[in-house]
Amino acid sequence: MATFRKIGILSSGGDAPGMNACIKAVVHRAKEMGVEVIGISNGYAGLINGDLTQLTTHKVANINGEGGTILYSSRCPEFKTEQGMQTAIATCRRNEIDALICIGGDGTFRGATDMTIRGIPSIGIPGTIDNDIVATDYTIGFDTALNTTTYMIDNLRDTCESHNRLDVVEVMGNRCGQIALYSAIASGAVAVAIPELPFDEEAAIKRIADLRRAGKRNMIVVVAEGKKNEDGTKYSELLAKKIPELTGVETKFARLAHTVRGGRPTVRDRVSATRMGIAAVEALVAGKSNLVICERDTDIETIDISLALAIQKLHHGNLKEEELASLSEEDRTFVKKIVARRHNVTVQLYEAAADICM
Ligand code: F6P
Repeated sequence: MATFRKIGILSSGGDAPGMNACIKAVVHRAKEMGVEVIGISNGYAGLINGDLTQLTTHKVANINGEGGTILYSSRCPEFKTEQGMQTAIATCRRNEIDALICIGGDGTFRGATDMTIRGIPSIGIPGTIDNDIVATDYTIGFDTALNTTTYMIDNLRDTCESHNRLDVVEVMGNRCGQIALYSAIASGAVAVAIPELPFDEEAAIKRIADLRRAGKRNMIVVVAEGKKNEDGTKYSELLAKKIPELTGVETKFARLAHTVRGGRPTVRDRVSATRMGIAAVEALVAGKSNLVICERDTDIETIDISLALAIQKLHHGNLKEEELASLSEEDRTFVKKIVARRHNVTVQLYEAAADICM
C-alpha cells in the first residue's frame, strides 16, 4: 500500500461530457482515503506551467451535470519533449504531488506512462466522445455524444421530410466509426460509412434511388469523419456531391462537429465516470500505476497502459511483429482477443445498420 498524500488530476485531449463527474468522484474518494487532490488546469500544459489548484469537495459540488471539464483541456506538443516532461516532473516534486490521474484518450495515456517512467506513478481514465480506446468497452462522453448526435439527426430528418431531401451527416469520431454506427442505427439512416469497414457505395446509391422511387421523402446518410478518400479528403463531402448527381435526390450536407462534444452528460456518462474515478484512486492508493481503467461488460477493470496501447496499435494494423512477439503468451492472447472482440462488435453493428436501412 503506497502512502500518497497528494494526487494530481488533469484532463487532456478533446473534452468529453462526464469528465466533471469523474473529477468529483476522485476528489470524494481521495478525501475518504485521506488523500488531497490537486487540480491541474489545461492538461499537461498546466503541469508544465504549474497551473494548479487544490480541489476540495466544496469546489467540486454540483459539477456532475456540467458539460466540458472544470480543469479545461489542451493538446500539448511541448510535453512530448524530454524537457517538457522534466519540467512537469519538477512541478510535481515542487508541489509534493505523489501521483497523477490523467483523463483523456490514447495520447493522454502515453503521457501517463511518460510520467510513471520518470517517477510519478500515473493512471489513465478513458475520457473521449469517440469510444475509440479499444481496451475498454466504454469511454466517458460517448453516450452523451450519441444522444446529441441522434437528436440532431432527428431534427434534420424532420426538415428533410418537409422538403423531400436527403442529408449526408458527418459525425465526429476521429478514426473510429462508433459514433456513426450507433447514431445511424438509432436514427434509421439509409446508409452509414465508417473507416473500419468497406462501404458499398454502388449499393447505397441504388438503395437511395429505389427508396425515392418507392416514395420515401426523407433520407439520412451518416458518414464518420475519419472515412477518407484515397487522396485523404473527406468521404462525406464526396458522397454529398455524388448522391444528387447519380440519383437526382436533392442533398444537403451537415457536419455536426464539436456541437456534440458539449452539453450536460447523460446518466450513463455520469455513472461510468464516477465508477472509473473511484477505481483510479483506489488503484493508486493500493500502489498500482501505469494502468488504464476500463469498463468491460458491466465490470470496472484495469489493464497496463502498455497493453492498452498495444491493443490500439494492433487494431489500427500498426503493431510491429517484434512488438507482438515481445509480449508474454498470455498478454498476446489477451491483446488479440480484445481486438477481435471490438472488430466483431463493429461488424455486428454494421450489419444491424444495413438490416434497418430502408
Ligand atoms: O477526440 C475527440 C474529437 O472530438 C474527435 O472526434 C475529433 O476528431 C477531434 O477530437 C477534434 O479535435 P479538436 O478539438 O482539436 O478539433
